[in-house]
Amino acid sequence: MTVSIRQIHPVFVGEVSGCDLTQPIDRATVAAIETGMDRYAVLVFHDQALTDDQQMAFTRNFGTLETTGAGNITKPHELRLQPEMIDVSNLDRENKPLALDDRRRMFNLGNRLWHSDSSFKAIPAKYSLLSGRITVEKGGNTEVADMRAAYDALDAETKAEIEDLVCEHSLIYSRGALGFTELSEDERKKFTPVRQRLVRTHPVTGRKSLYLSSHIGTIVGWPMPEARAFIRDLIDHATQPQFVYVHKWRRYDFVMWDNRQTMHRVRRFDETQVRDMRRTTVAGDAPTTAQVQAA
Ligand SMILES: [Fe+2]
Repeated sequence: MTVSIRQIHPVFVGEVSGCDLTQPIDRATVAAIETGMDRYAVLVFHDQALTDDQQMAFTRNFGTLETTGAGNITKPHELRLQPEMIDVSNLDRENKPLALDDRRRMFNLGNRLWHSDSSFKAIPAKYSLLSGRITVEKGGNTEVADMRAAYDALDAETKAEIEDLVCEHSLIYSRGALGFTELSEDERKKFTPVRQRLVRTHPVTGRKSLYLSSHIGTIVGWPMPEARAFIRDLIDHATQPQFVYVHKWRRYDFVMWDNRQTMHRVRRFDETQVRDMRRTTVAGDAPTTAQVQAA
C-alpha cells in the first residue's frame, strides 16, 4: 500500500488515501500512519467498511486496546458490542435508539462536552479510532481541537503559570456539569478522580499541548471555583474556530485522533434516528503524573 496524506485544516488534520483498512497492513504503512498522527494529530479515512474484527486488528498495530467498563454506567448484560469495541452509538442491544430519558443516554450526553478520551484514567488513552457504521444526515458532527496550536497561542506568562499544574479528572465532574448527579456508590467509587498534568509534551515530536477535558473538576492546590473558572477560560481559548476541525460524517468514514494532543466533542442530532458509531481505543503507556494513594 502507498499511503498519502493531505492536510485539510490550516493547523492539523490529514486526509489519508491509498489505504484499505479491511486488509492487514505492512510495517511501513503502520509507520507512515504513526508519523502522520504525530504530525497532524487527526487522520481521516473514507470508505472503510470495517467489521469489528477488522477495526480491532487495525487498532492493534498501534498498541493495546482499552476495554469498555471503566468509562460508562452500562451494565455488562446491556452491552451491544464486545468489550474492546467502545459503543458510542445511541442504540440498545436490539439496535434500537435508547429512550430519550434512558439513564445510559443521559450519561452519554457528556460526550457533547469537549473532552479527551479516558483522561479520567490514571493511564489515559493514546489514540481513539472511530468508525461511522450508520451516520445521520443532519447534525452529529465530531469536532476536534488542536491542543498544541492552542498551547502555542498562549502568552508567555500563562505558559509559565500552567507549566507544572496538575488537574483532577473524573466522569463525576463532566456528568455533574450537565446536572447528571444520580450515581450509585459503586459508580462513584469507579469514577474516583485521577491526576493529570495540564501541560503535556509529546513523546516523539516534543511539542507541548494543553491537556484539557470537561472531566476536570479542580486543580490541585487551588480553590475549586477558581480552578473551574480558569479551566473554563482555557477551554474557551483552546476551542476557538481557528483550532477546530469539524468532521461531517459520511457512512464508513474512519477518523483517528491522538488524545494526548487534541480534545473533541460530538454535536446534537435527532436521537430518534439510528447512529451507529464504534470506537476502538489504544491505551496509553504511562501516567502523566504521580497519583495520590487512597487512604
Ligand atoms: Fe470521546
